[in-house]
Amino acid sequence: MNLPSEFPIVQAPMAGGPSTPALTAAVANAGGYGFVAGGYLTSEALRAAIEATRALTSGPFGVNLFVPSARSDLVEVSAYAATIQPEADRLQVTLGEPRWDDDAFDAKLDLLESLPVHLVSFTFGCPSVSVVQRLHRAGTQVAVTVTSAREARLATEVGADLLAVQGTEAGGHQGSFANSTNSANSAEIAANYTPLLAALAEIREVSALPMIGTGGIMTGHGAATVLAAGAVAVQLGTAFLCAAEAGTSPTYRQALLTARYADTIVTRAFSGRYARGLANRFALEHDRHAPQAYPEVHHLTRPLRAAATAAGDADVPNLWAGLGWRQVTAEPAADIVTRIAAGARAG
Ligand SMILES: Cc1cc2nc3c(=O)[nH]c(=O)nc-3n(C[C@H](O)[C@H](O)[C@H](O)COP(=O)(O)O)c2cc1C
Repeated sequence: MNLPSEFPIVQAPMAGGPSTPALTAAVANAGGYGFVAGGYLTSEALRAAIEATRALTSGPFGVNLFVPSARSDLVEVSAYAATIQPEADRLQVTLGEPRWDDDAFDAKLDLLESLPVHLVSFTFGCPSVSVVQRLHRAGTQVAVTVTSAREARLATEVGADLLAVQGTEAGGHQGSFANSTNSANSAEIAANYTPLLAALAEIREVSALPMIGTGGIMTGHGAATVLAAGAVAVQLGTAFLCAAEAGTSPTYRQALLTARYADTIVTRAFSGRYARGLANRFALEHDRHAPQAYPEVHHLTRPLRAAATAAGDADVPNLWAGLGWRQVTAEPAADIVTRIAAGARAG
């Protein structure tokens, strides 16, 4: 199955602000394939985002959902809360309640049954056979984000139509099924997670499903390399973060465009789940202490991140970015799609 867009260029779903209906529609209207990011939204907000996107484009687009995570050890979360309390005192905010939730998974599936879209992609886990079948009955294709051969096998077994193969270069959360390592050290997790080209090769051995390659792609040449490695399309997140239509905050955009931080780090410090972002002060200071506890830590740190972003303080919020972040450009999304598609054709 190939995507129905003119170009094999996919705008990654980017929950938490960067994804907007205007971005998804601009990508679709320029011949790429856009996603509505369903993560963190209520089902009512997801409905509004789908309807707003439909008002701006007649092209097909996908919706992305987070598969619910297991509940975590609240003792570890409390210890982490004590560690980061001085950050809250400094910003004069109260830390969030470290609650577990399922991100309204069932309500969003009900919505997508009554308001079907072309494709639903999942991250953070494998949907069940019955979820895949419900979407298929609604006429919707299903993609699953995978980071290893084992995960690809599971996604194939549940009846997925496509794999979004995510390499370690990727910005944002790792889409792995288990946030399972007990390591609290970002250097160790990096060793357990595969770069994109190696992941595509490994996964090709165990699944015949079409693969969308994602992670660290910023240029037409980068896209061509991943397409030549067997992907049917490439999915780019960071490349769209400073697009005119993106909802990325000014604090976040500036940190990227001025190269305020030298590097990226894969850390659980912000959300309790490993994610790659700019190595700002919060990431570096709290990386070692953060437990595996998503979404509890996400809710715990949310008020801190929001207050710092509003105050223009880039040292505290999560600034997700892939390894290619230095090549990010501030342009209309259509120009990014056109440039990368032309470069991909040229090879
Ligand atoms: C700010 C940001 C938010 C993201 N949010 C999501 C998300 O909601 N769902 C998802 O499946 N992937 C998400 N991702 C990961 C992307 O799907 C994709 O794998 C990643 O952006 C690829 O790497 P790149 O950023 O180097 O292009 C996000 C990435 C970024 C940078």
